[in-house]
Amino acid sequence: MPTLLITGANRGLGLEISKEFLKLGWDVHATCRDPDSALALKAIQKANSDLLNIYKLDVSNDSQINELKEVIGKLPIDILFNNAGTYAAKSGEFGTSDRDTWLDSFNINVISPMKIMETFVDNVADSEKKIIANMSSKMGSIEDNSSGGSYAYRSTKTALNTVVMSASHDLKSKDITVLALHPGWVRTDMGGPNGELSVEESAAGILNNLKNASLIDTGSFFDIDGTIIPW
Ligand SMILES: NC(=O)c1ccc[n+]([C@@H]2O[C@H](COP(=O)([O-])OP(=O)(O)OC[C@H]3O[C@@H](n4cnc5c(N)ncnc54)[C@H](OP(=O)(O)O)[C@@H]3O)[C@@H](O)[C@H]2O)c1
Repeated sequence: MPTLLITGANRGLGLEISKEFLKLGWDVHATCRDPDSALALKAIQKANSDLLNIYKLDVSNDSQINELKEVIGKLPIDILFNNAGTYAAKSGEFGTSDRDTWLDSFNINVISPMKIMETFVDNVADSEKKIIANMSSKMGSIEDNSSGGSYAYRSTKTALNTVVMSASHDLKSKDITVLALHPGWVRTDMGGPNGELSVEESAAGILNNLKNASLIDTGSFFDIDGTIIPW
């Protein structure tokens, strides 16, 4: 049965994406910073104990990434999903930039997905589907930026897109498809109550994009409806 490894699975999009893959019968390896307080995830595990494994992972902690690799071992991973992310509320508006907040956000949104890709690349290469999905945002598109602001968040997602493009070239010889995905504006803690999509609607679009993705798409930045977002 195909395997998903996903970060930030305790709430929001990560939780819903995990649920949807479980419904499809996938073997889901869900990570979160604090499994003890991941009540929604643990509730799902009760009903799917054979398919859902939960692991502790702060994506910015290299020791925890390495410990997870020890546990996962050589298990083939069909889809590695870098979902965890943060929106730096400070460093949003011009005149409010805060170095520590920005660097923290860069660490979580850019360097962590890279480290996780590097750590699990052989697991993905040994799988059937061979996909690395990275949760980006249209807010990282320079061309789409018509309103300004969100300096830290936008710049981290732009940087993540660059990581995706480089990795798509570097991992092509291993037949790995590396993608940047925009989930839409979604009603989560990050997206807020005015988001245009429910988590269910967003996850459905994401799963559809993943279902249709193959090596020809590597290095693409997909909108939720499968169209390409300009960089
Ligand atoms: N919602 C939107 O409209 C929207 C739009 C575009 C892109 N996105 C992207 O979609 C992804 C998921 O966002 P969401 O809307 O589901 O947000 P969310 O509800 O705020 O969830 C964020 C998730 O990331 C996790 N996370 C943050 N820092 C972490 C760290 N250092 N280590 C491990 N996990 C960490 C959180 O864990 P904790 O519970 O431990 O904090 C949580 O599970 C993010 O990458 C976000 O940038 C969202």
